[in-house]
Amino acid sequence: MSAPWHVAPSGPLVGELAVNGDKSVSHRALLIGALTDGPVEVEGWGDSADTRATLEAVRALGVRVDDHGHGRLTVHGVGLGGLKPPVGAIDVRNAGTLMRLLSGICAMQPAGAFTLDGDASIRTRPMERVAQPLRAMGAEVETTEGRPPVTVTAGRPLAGIEHVLPVASAQVKSAILLAGLRATGPTTVVEPQATRDHTERMLRAAGARVTGSGGRVTLEPAERLRLDRIEVPGDISSAAFLIVAATLIPESRIFLRGIGMGAGRTGILDVLERMGGRVAVFNRRTTDAGEPVADLEVAHAELTASSIRGDEVPALVDELPILALAACCARGKTRVRDAGELRVKESDRLESVRDALWRIGGHIEVEDDGWFIRGVPVRLRGGTVDPHGDHRVAMLGAIAGLYSEEGVTITDPGAIDVSFPGFRALIEAATAVRR
Ligand code: S3P
Repeated sequence: MSAPWHVAPSGPLVGELAVNGDKSVSHRALLIGALTDGPVEVEGWGDSADTRATLEAVRALGVRVDDHGHGRLTVHGVGLGGLKPPVGAIDVRNAGTLMRLLSGICAMQPAGAFTLDGDASIRTRPMERVAQPLRAMGAEVETTEGRPPVTVTAGRPLAGIEHVLPVASAQVKSAILLAGLRATGPTTVVEPQATRDHTERMLRAAGARVTGSGGRVTLEPAERLRLDRIEVPGDISSAAFLIVAATLIPESRIFLRGIGMGAGRTGILDVLERMGGRVAVFNRRTTDAGEPVADLEVAHAELTASSIRGDEVPALVDELPILALAACCARGKTRVRDAGELRVKESDRLESVRDALWRIGGHIEVEDDGWFIRGVPVRLRGGTVDPHGDHRVAMLGAIAGLYSEEGVTITDPGAIDVSFPGFRALIEAATAVRR
């Protein structure tokens, strides 16, 4: 348990702020990089506890990764079927993306037994949603009553399938597509709502045949993957905390450069625009590995409530905690629906976010698959937030502290390292000069 962090009320945030490399793309740079023939240069890699778990996992599977520091890595890919079975279990720690994607990758290896395990939170997360489609392809996958630890016995011949996902999930889609790389015949995944497409973009950039988008994607088996360079965009899920902070605190104006604008990730910008937020998007471009990026300028704005439901949920699923804070400080009532997936994230986020905001003066209730929030457009009172071991709830507490009357104490801020280890230093530097 880390020492508590008290975040005092803050004046405006002004100037350029830098966020870490995108977590989803950073995991994939290592996992897909490991499957290529030859070295891949990675730039802007987001160093965090989660992505370190992936770095260590691929090393444990016999892949050399040179860490040059400052987000630069060289991943010496071993080819599609070149991973070595590890000695003992792979420890994914808190990283659900690693757990799911690696299950698909292990299933298509030519031989060996791969056991994947992690921390107490990972051991509560559903794995049958990955195991079932992999078994339908011919893989041998054993879960522990539907959860980790998971053991994949490789070497079974795989056949491509058409799988209709019951719940929208980029992690499950990616696991199936990655297994399909060495299956016979095409693999198709149909999603109820389109989710982030980083796996498809990176595989395409590496020469795989991936067609379709926005809800139905098909991958043909591949002979080999080649990729020279992966530039990892800034993480919009980390930027979201700063975007909401600058929106809430009067006279703020911040710039965020090179932020990932991938399909399935920018829902927060659409919702904030509806609420009256002022986020300008400019300098749009696409990286070598096919990821759209842009620069953002965010200015303070008065917010009005706007409900969130249905198809737009997957594109902002990780931003719902910080959007709940925005809704608490907006004028009017917000209903968030169709967000039952929040119950199986790093914590039960429907409960942990309600607990955090309620303790510091927010008017928020949990409903079946979402929240009901009565917004009041003033600073929250403040108080103490228990992040329940969840990085996004801890960062939500910190941003609430900046926009509070009395400040917020986060009881265990160490959880933040899971995605954004530089967050605290950034917040302290951005507020120190201006208070
Ligand atoms: C992720 C997909 C999402 C997201 C997670 C990262 C990914 O999870 O919540 O933080 O990198 O594919 P689900 O696929 O479970 O929705």
